[in-house]
Amino acid sequence: MTRRAKLRRSLVLIPLVAVTLAACTTAAPQRMVGTDDVVFDRQRIMKVQGAMWTDIQNKFKAGNIEAIAPNAEVLAITALQIPTLFPEGSLTEKSKAKPELWQRRDEFNKAAKNLAVWSERLRDASKAKDEKAVADIMKDYGRVGCGSCHTPFRQPPPRS
Ligand code: HEC
Repeated sequence: MTRRAKLRRSLVLIPLVAVTLAACTTAAPQRMVGTDDVVFDRQRIMKVQGAMWTDIQNKFKAGNIEAIAPNAEVLAITALQIPTLFPEGSLTEKSKAKPELWQRRDEFNKAAKNLAVWSERLRDASKAKDEKAVADIMKDYGRVGCGSCHTPFRQPPPRS
């Protein structure tokens, strides 16, 4: 290739690279799945989390340690989706989130990540049929995994 041709090629490439980079950096994080009602979507995911947790507790009580793993895996995956389901400005009348969530966003995101880590730990202990490890995690899972986010960031459910 002549020097001129090389120069021409690089002149063509530079703007291309620049455009690609701009597209990558400005793209907003995409939600993986969902309807156009984000409050509905997150309450739906939370209901699944509630159902998984009930299932896990029942299996644990019945000594069915190995069967906990798939529920824990669902909790791990859904936990990772939590931060994307609370965009700025999504506190509607139907939502039970507290406004503090958007003021202490890092803490909220950390609580979601923490739930994912605990759920993976529970999944692995269940797969390994390690009864003692599962029991140790179960002792604190509800309080640490769910409660550490609900207490600061969710309105308490109405007393009946
Ligand atoms: C990172 C924060 C966070 C974590 C961790 C978390 N939640 Fe939630 N959860 C919320 C918030 C915020 C709401 C209220 C959402 C709304 O109404 O907009 C909620 C709502 C709920 C609801 C009510 C859903 C409905 O019907 O409206 C259930 C049930 C629930 N969570 C279960 C769980 C369980 C079980 C866990 C642990 C396995 C858990 N959550 C972990 C933040 C969290």
